[in-house]
Parts: sequence; structure tokens; C-alpha cells
Amino acid sequence: MSKNLEPGFWDSARKHLIRYGGSFEPAIIERAAGSFVYDADDRPILDFTSGQMSALLGHAHPRIVSTVSRQVERAAHLFSGMLSRPVVELAERLAALAPGLDRVLLLSTGAESNEAAIRMAKLVTGKHEIVAFSKSWHGMTGAAASATYSAGRKGYGPAAVGSLAIPAPNSFRPRFRNADGSLDWLTELNDAFDMIDSQSTGSLAAFVAEPILSSGGILELPQGYLAALHQKCRERGMLLILDEAQTGIGRTGDMFAFQKDGVTPDILTLSKTIGAGLPLSAVMTTAEIEEAAHDKGFLFYTTHVSDPLPAAVGVAVLDVVEEEKLVDRAQRLGAKLFEGLSRLKQRYECVGDVRGRGLLLGVEIVKDGKVPNHELGAAIAAEAFRRGLSMNIVKLPGMGGVFRIAPPLTISEEDLGLGLRIISESIEAGLAANASLTGIAAE
Ligand SMILES: Cc1ncc(COP(=O)(O)O)c(C=O)c1O
Repeated sequence: MSKNLEPGFWDSARKHLIRYGGSFEPAIIERAAGSFVYDADDRPILDFTSGQMSALLGHAHPRIVSTVSRQVERAAHLFSGMLSRPVVELAERLAALAPGLDRVLLLSTGAESNEAAIRMAKLVTGKHEIVAFSKSWHGMTGAAASATYSAGRKGYGPAAVGSLAIPAPNSFRPRFRNADGSLDWLTELNDAFDMIDSQSTGSLAAFVAEPILSSGGILELPQGYLAALHQKCRERGMLLILDEAQTGIGRTGDMFAFQKDGVTPDILTLSKTIGAGLPLSAVMTTAEIEEAAHDKGFLFYTTHVSDPLPAAVGVAVLDVVEEEKLVDRAQRLGAKLFEGLSRLKQRYECVGDVRGRGLLLGVEIVKDGKVPNHELGAAIAAEAFRRGLSMNIVKLPGMGGVFRIAPPLTISEEDLGLGLRIISESIEAGLAANASLTGIAAE
């Protein structure tokens, strides 16, 4: 019997765990190293989502391991009013990477960073309305959840007063079209802001956006969109907050995704990738905004703010990204992966779209052109896992199942090829299973 089936483990899990969304993978994970996690039979499973899109350097990178063990001995956690060297060093290093965003606050999670960013935007502007995309994900806590529209809105009572949304631009399923059929994002954006202006009570504080909406199905903002959005914000005295939880620190082939558009946000939030799997997040802003916030008594005093352990990890992550030239690598390997996935699109009708940038790619599973096919998507994901590949699939209303593919930036070309091969075999197997099910249903 596979050790993954150990009845005691699963009985205990059923009895004692609160389920927090989706189902658990059918394996007991014992350890993780590089681009693989290993189950209870010591079977390697290629991790095409870097854990929860975070293990940028793969699992158990030696530099992270040594940094954690060194720093945990020196100082892991301190009184929140104390400063240590790793904190100031990380702030300085981040500021050097994002010219203009000189001030940094170090926290733990993505939701928390967006919480702080939104709180700061409200305080500085003296306003309270927050606009986000209809397919956004900014986290599970108060203000972040109020600005999250892709899932989880129903059943939890009122969102924050002044929560507004505009449609996320979708090039695969345009709502507004140019004469050639492509997405007319400018008309869509103008239309959306007409709606915002009519709903607003005159208190627009900020727009919070992901440069590539990840949980929303890997929707990349079209070139020029971010600049136009920034302009809309400026016209209304709103701040632009960019949430680069998944896109930051090189994954898209630039250090930050916003650099491709030449638009520096007023506030930038980083999480996931900056800690490469450990809980570290950051809020970055201009000196001017920070001064204004401070003058008004900005308060975001948490237990783990400015903790030295995660900060030391953040410094090590930036070192490794630089030394191993991982930003260029994301661009180069991303292009290869995109090519490989595009070949699958040519081969299989059910691959409706391949999109994304660098090593953050999406593959949408459809039938009859663009009709969402969640069942097939789920079947392919299950087949892949059985074959030793972990891929995350998001299921959103109106869209097909979308695989989110974001392997560690350190993945080898050989393992990228292995992943592509498993995806191809899993599509074949998923299609075969679907065909036999359809056959049975028709009988
Ligand atoms: C873009 C984005 N922002 C924020 C978050 C929330 O981060 P956390 O789960 O660390 O609170 C996520 C998590 O998936 C995310 O994808």
C-alpha cells in the first residue's frame, strides 16, 4: 500500500483540520527540494506553482537554509519598536531596485501588505473609496478581502463601505472590440470609469491592481493600460497601488512587472516571491507619501513588523536573484515555456489560450472554441498530479479552467521539458477519460 494512503494521517486530518478552500491533494508531502516536492513514497512531484506561487528559488535553496539557521541564532523576532541591520539593509536594497519608492515597511503576508497600503492611501488622501478589478485577489483580511472580487465575497457580511470594481481586461474574451476583433481596452477603461464616477460619493482614495491578475486567470494588462489607469487615478486624486505579490522580484522577466509599462505606482506591495516561501511582505512608497502619512499619525504596528529573520531572508533572496541572474533567466525560460505551451495549443483544440509573461503563464482549457471546460481542466490536473506534476487550476465563472504555471526561476531546462511532456500526456489522458464518460452518458 502506498504510504500516502496512511489511514491514521487522513483520519486525523479529517477530524482536526478546518478546511479553508478547495480539496487537499491526495498525497502526504514529506519534504521539498529544488523544483520538486516528495510524497510519502518518496515520489518526486514537479512543482510548477512554486508552492503557493512563492518558492522563487525552488525549495530549500542552500542560501535560504543557511540564512535562516544563522539569523535564527542571532535574532529572529524583536520588540516592534526595535530596528536591526537586516531590516534597514533590505529596505535600502528594495529602494535601490525601485527608484522613487524610497520608503519601505516590512510585514509578513500579502494580505497584510495590501491592508497597510490601503490604510495609508486612505489616511493620506483623506478619502475612503477603493477601486479594484472584477477578477482581483488581494488577500483574505478586511480591506484586502473587500478589494478581492475573484472569489469569496458571499456569506461574510458587508465589504468595506466604498468598495468599487471595474472589469478586468480580458484579451481572450473582449467585452469591447476594435475593428479587427482585438480587445479595445481603452473604450472599456473609459466606460468603467464613467461607472465609477457615477457611483463614487466623491471619496476615491486608491485603485489597487495586479499587473497580471493571477487568481483571476492570468490576465495580463495590455500594453499601455497601466499608464492609462495611472492617468485616471491622477485625474481623480487617487493613489495607484500595485500588488506585485506574484509578479515582483523577477518572475515576469523584469524585476517588477510595472517596469515594462514605465509606470511607477504610488504604493507597491510585495509578498510571496520576496520571501521565496517564507512569510515576508513589503510596502514601498515615495518619501512624500510616507511623510504625509507619518504627519497624520500613520499606525500599522504589528507583532512581526520589522522582524530580522524574514528580513535577512529577503536580503538573501535579492542576493541570489542577482548572482544567479534570475530575472534574465525568467525571461529566457519563460519564452521557452511559452513556445512549448503554444505548441500544445496548436496540437489540442481544448487548449484555448496561452498567456502571461516570463515564468508566470496561464493555459485556458475550453471546448468548442471558447466555451469554458472546467471538467476537462480538473481531469487534466488530476492526471498531471498522478504523473508527478503539480499545477494549480483556477475555476472562474465565465472562463475555462486556467492552469497557472509559475515554476521556480531556478528550474532546469530539463525539468521544464519534463513538465511540458507531462502536461501533454495528461491532456491526452484527460481527453480520453472525457470521451469515454461522454460515450457512457450518450449510451
Ligand atoms: C496578487 C495577490 N495579492 C495578495 C495575495 C494575498 O497574499 P497572502 O495569502 O500572503 O495574504 C495573493 C495571494 O494569493 C495574491 O495572489
